[in-house]
Amino acid sequence: MRTAYPLLSLLFVLIPAVRSQFTIADTYIGQDFFNTWTWQDIDDPTNGRVNYTDQAFARATNLSYATSTKFFMRADDQNVVPSNARGRNSVRILSNKAYSDSLTVLDIQHMPEGCSTWPAFWSLSQTGPWPAGGEIDIIEGESRFHTPRVNMDTSNLISLHTSPNCTVPEERIETGTVDSTNCDADVNYNQGCGVSGPVGSYGAPLNAGGGGWFVMERTRATGIRVWFWPRNATDVPPAVLFAEPFILPDLTWPTPTAYFPMGADCNYETHFNAHQFVFDLTFCGDWAGTDYTTTGCSGSCTDFVDNNPEAFTEAYWEVNSLRMYTILA
Ligand SMILES: *[C@@H]1O[C@H](CO)[C@@H](O)[C@H](O)[C@H]1NC(C)=O
Ligand SMILES: *[C@@H]1O[C@H](CO)[C@@H](O)[C@H](O)[C@H]1NC(C)=O
Ligand SMILES: *[C@@H]1O[C@H](CO)[C@@H](O)[C@H](O)[C@H]1NC(C)=O
Ligand SMILES: *[C@@H]1O[C@H](CO)[C@@H](O)[C@H](O)[C@H]1NC(C)=O
Repeated sequence: MRTAYPLLSLLFVLIPAVRSQFTIADTYIGQDFFNTWTWQDIDDPTNGRVNYTDQAFARATNLSYATSTKFFMRADDQNVVPSNARGRNSVRILSNKAYSDSLTVLDIQHMPEGCSTWPAFWSLSQTGPWPAGGEIDIIEGESRFHTPRVNMDTSNLISLHTSPNCTVPEERIETGTVDSTNCDADVNYNQGCGVSGPVGSYGAPLNAGGGGWFVMERTRATGIRVWFWPRNATDVPPAVLFAEPFILPDLTWPTPTAYFPMGADCNYETHFNAHQFVFDLTFCGDWAGTDYTTTGCSGSCTDFVDNNPEAFTEAYWEVNSLRMYTILA
């Protein structure tokens, strides 16, 4: 039936042709993070006013804490920062394991919020050097469509940063708002190709609602897709809600928040390889410091960080679980 072909090809444009079924590979809950992630006590690559602490120090001072069901990472909310210190004590952790084609299901109850904070959950190439192999930002606050930005943002920015020759179309099947379409980290001052999520997908309103789920799928066949559901959403797929061992992101799933198709304009194989995951929490620095004046917070960013420990009581991650699925062979 030749007449069916135009309809079929339209469908193939709208819907990725091959869907992958995933099976659980790793579950990170509570204490698991202490055994399988690395506390990176490095100088912040984004030049924040932060002292990233090692695991022993972070645990001794309760900046990192776990129960059998919860994992917490926080900023120091007790002490004024000495002027000769590297910055406010905080935590940046990196998964020891790297994942290629995979599905990530993150369930968080709370993310860091407040003046000067710049938290993120993202992945980057294990081999690099950055931006070779790609960066995928799953939770970050830097949308140019919303003020206040960064520290006080209320909507999430999902973004890719890549080596040259990776762009995505303006029109895509996604519910988010296109921020920019060139993923090349060397253009537009490393703006990346971002998509803004709904208000409530980041910061204070996300926390007020009890957090939610962030799901990222990356495959050669479907490209990169990210979904967000707040805790009270009524359309969370059962496989996500009940942490089932198999997941098939199928036609019954809602439209993703962000969709980055891969193809001629961005070759998946040459721009993305195996990624490690990062949770971090810095203060001020390259973006968050520059944009501080747009946030409605007072004084200079670094003075604020140093002198107001009580302002950091909400600057913590509370992670219910992180589940990593890989393609069922
Ligand atoms: C910075 O963190 C290290 C642990 O990684 C710790 O030994 C040091 O005391 C911290 N600096 C301050 C000023 O607290
Ligand atoms: C450590 O942090 C956890 C999580 O915020 C909290 O429940 C616990 O009371 C803290 N422990 C101490 C000794 O402060
Ligand atoms: C990017 O594309 C241009 C033009 O097609 C090509 O000349 C250049 O070599 C490409 N760069 C990379 C890093 O692939
Ligand atoms: C979820 O909570 C938010 C914030 O309280 C509210 O605006 C929204 O209508 C709620 N959604 C559902 C499906 O109950």
